Order: sequence, then structure tokens, then C-alpha cells
Amino acid sequence: MPKTLIEPFRIKSVEPIRMTTRSERERLLAAANLNVFKLHAEDVLIDWLTDSGTGAMSSKQWAAIMEGDESYAGARSFYRLEAVLKELTGMRYFVPTHQGRAAEKVLFTAACKKGDIVPNNCHFDTTRANLEVLGVEALDMVIAEGTQPATIHPFKGNIDLGRVQMLLETKGDHVPFGMITVTNNTGGGQPVSMANIRAYAALLKRYHKPFIMDVCRFAENAMFIKLREPEFAQTSIRDIVKEMFSYADGATMSAKKDGMVNIGGFIVLRSDEWMDAVRNTLILTEGFPTYGGMAGRDLEAMAVGLEEALQEDYLRYRLRTAEYLGERLESAGIGFVKPTGGHAVYIDAKTVLPNMPVAHYPAWALCNALYLEGGIRGVEIGSVMFGKRLADGTETFHNMELVRLAFPRRMYTQSHFDYAAEVIAEVKEKANEIRGVRIVKQAPYLRHFSCDCEWV
Ligand code: F0G
Repeated sequence: MPKTLIEPFRIKSVEPIRMTTRSERERLLAAANLNVFKLHAEDVLIDWLTDSGTGAMSSKQWAAIMEGDESYAGARSFYRLEAVLKELTGMRYFVPTHQGRAAEKVLFTAACKKGDIVPNNCHFDTTRANLEVLGVEALDMVIAEGTQPATIHPFKGNIDLGRVQMLLETKGDHVPFGMITVTNNTGGGQPVSMANIRAYAALLKRYHKPFIMDVCRFAENAMFIKLREPEFAQTSIRDIVKEMFSYADGATMSAKKDGMVNIGGFIVLRSDEWMDAVRNTLILTEGFPTYGGMAGRDLEAMAVGLEEALQEDYLRYRLRTAEYLGERLESAGIGFVKPTGGHAVYIDAKTVLPNMPVAHYPAWALCNALYLEGGIRGVEIGSVMFGKRLADGTETFHNMELVRLAFPRRMYTQSHFDYAAEVIAEVKEKANEIRGVRIVKQAPYLRHFSCDCEWV
């Protein structure tokens, strides 16, 4: 058997990308106030800002787009997607939303109140923000290994059940439900094991708490379970997915990830307890419950995409992509979250810039350096994203300084990855030239999206 795992698709439609010069990039980054979110995408050569909504749709999805039923109420496209979701999740209630954070907002508004506490392995930034804006405390309780980039563990996304139990014992009255994020994006795209999901579900059940999953990357998580949890070595991805969902009482999803679409999301729930409130908020802010802010054609594309995400050869190639870049970084002596996760590689900026103070935001600085060196755009997952400026002007910092390179699905080929590996190695060679930044303007929530910075 040849050892190269090839991209399991061929290209039918191409989109040119554009190289810029270093001096152009210096000018462009300065104009973006040293914040890569503010660059024009056209000025980026390899765009690994996110795997969210950026992937390539298949010819089958494009064909399904033509089947879209744009009726305001009761569209055929809604029922088609509902059938796919009922089969996969086993849950009775479903509403579409325009993306993941809308699902979060709608569900949390229905299920939480001020003073509540929600445990999760790690809350994604929008999940955290949507809870905090309601006055809810979002607690990250990932296992200790999950916060140590260099520690190898097959399921670094697992939640620490001892800590959850302690929370339920001492403050259980304030916990409306328990959450888990598969895969654990903020902690390195790391998977959660079926054993952990089962045990967490059982624990929550003992305390009569519903179990809500954030399932953005459920298919990638299922593939990790198949590869790493011996019990599932012979189980199909579909059956693993079904078992994962069988333990949950509900889920929120950004379909822009494993839904393989450019826009979309949903809420599924097993019981109708929150459904009236969900529908009411949905109608107020998203749209009628059978379209939820989506076009019928996009619901069709999602119905096809959710099935395509379960294909094993696709998932094998998908996970191998991150692993391959990891191997290249390893040989260049660059630290990253190990083992590599499903959708991204997370460079540990502290291994490239060991002497830069966190107050100069090393991961942000590295992100800027990757753009300047090779036109590559990643995203900082460090103290700009998760730090906070306090009233007295001081800051709290995040425990990790990571640069995430997230891979759009079915979009970049191996030579793009080879190029990136060379650029990253080059940046490490010139690390002493990399400058930190200070934030000169910021928003109270999710400041990384819009902050302005200047060089230290
Ligand atoms: N939950 C997780 C685990 C996510 O990764 C995201 C989005 C969301 C919820 C929110 O979904 O963007 O559709 O509103 N993650 C993207 C990312 C933005 O780049 O990781 P959304």
C-alpha cells in the first residue's frame, strides 16, 4: 500500500490566491492596526484564520442548493434537514439558526438565568460571551493534561469529572445544565472520549441536570474515538456519532464546521421543556422556526454536508492533514499542542518567543510574524482573546499563548502545507526580530476581533 494519504477528492472549480511582497504586507498589517482580523482576505495567501464556514462544498451540495425550498413556513428543506438530524441525533426537537452563536444565544436565553454556573471542558469564546452577557459564570474544567501543550494524552478534551462533581455538590442549585465541547476547540481541537462522555452524562443524571453538547466538530471527534478508543475500532463513524448523541439531552451546533457549509447552525433537544422559549427568541431574533435565519437552499446544503462529514476516508485525510503539519513543525523544533487536533494545529508561541513577556502578547506577535513572513493568517488564542482588562487598568492573562492554524475543509492541498511549514520554520529562525504589541483600543467583549494594536 502506498503510504501517502491523498486528498480524497479532485478539484472541479478553482479560486486563485495572490502572493504579496513583504513590504506590501508590512503596509497592509499596519493599516489593519496590527490585527489580522482586519486584513482584506484578498491580501492573504493562505487563510487559516478559521475552519468555520470557509470550506469547499461538494458537487452534491451545490446540486442540493438548487433544491432549496424558500417558503417562509414549513419549507421542504426544513423537513429534509430535520430527517437527517433526527436520524443522527435521535432528538425530537430541532430549530435551525444562522450559525453556532445564535444557537447558543437562543438556548441560553431559554435555559439560564443570572447567577447560574455552566461547566464545560472549555467554552468557546462566543459560548462564554453568550453566557457571561446573561450574568452566567462559564467554568472551564478540562482535565489537567488539556492545558499542557506538550503532554501527550489521547483525549485531552476530556472534562475533569472530579471538579464537576465538586461543583454539583457545592453549588448544584445554580447549575442549569452541564456542557461539553467536541472537539475542544479552545484547548487545541482535542477530542473527548466516549468513556468521558458516558461518565459525564451519568454524573449529570445523578444530579438531575441536562447534558448539552456543543457539537461543531462531532465527526472529527468520532473519528478520534474510532482511532484511539479500542472499543470502537470496528464501529462505523455513523454509529459512534449516534452513540455520542444518545447520552445528550440537547446540542448546539455551528454547521460551518462539520456541517460542511458556509453558513448555518442548529439546536436539537430531546425534550420540549425549553422549546416554547426557544421558539419565541428564535422568532424575535432569527426567523420563523422552520428557517431560523437560513435560506432553504442552505438547509439543503447542510443536510448533504452532515452526511459527507461522516465519510471515513474524508475524516482520515482530515486528521492526517493536521498530523502532517505537526510532524513538519516537530522537525523544525517548534512546540505545538500535542497530539495535533482535528481541525487545526496550535503553535505554542512560548516555544518560539520564550523571552517575550505575556504583557506583549507573544501569540499575537507570532500571528503577525507569520503574515509578514509568508502571507499566512492564523488566529491568536492567548491573552488578547482570553485576557481581560480590569477597571484599574491591569490585565489578567490566559494560561496558554497559542497561534491556531485552522484548516478549511477540502480546500488546501499538501503543497500549501509544505509551504507553510517552511514559512513557520523561517519565522522561528528570525524570532529575535519579532516585536510584541500593546492594545490601544478594545471592546468590552470578544476584544480580539476588533482591537487596535501598536508595536511595543
Ligand atoms: N462553539 C465552538 C466550539 C466553535 O468553535 C464555534 C466557532 C462556535 C461555537 C460558534 O459558532 O462561529 O458559527 O457562531 N468557532 C469558529 C472558530 C468561529 O474559528 O473556531 P459560530
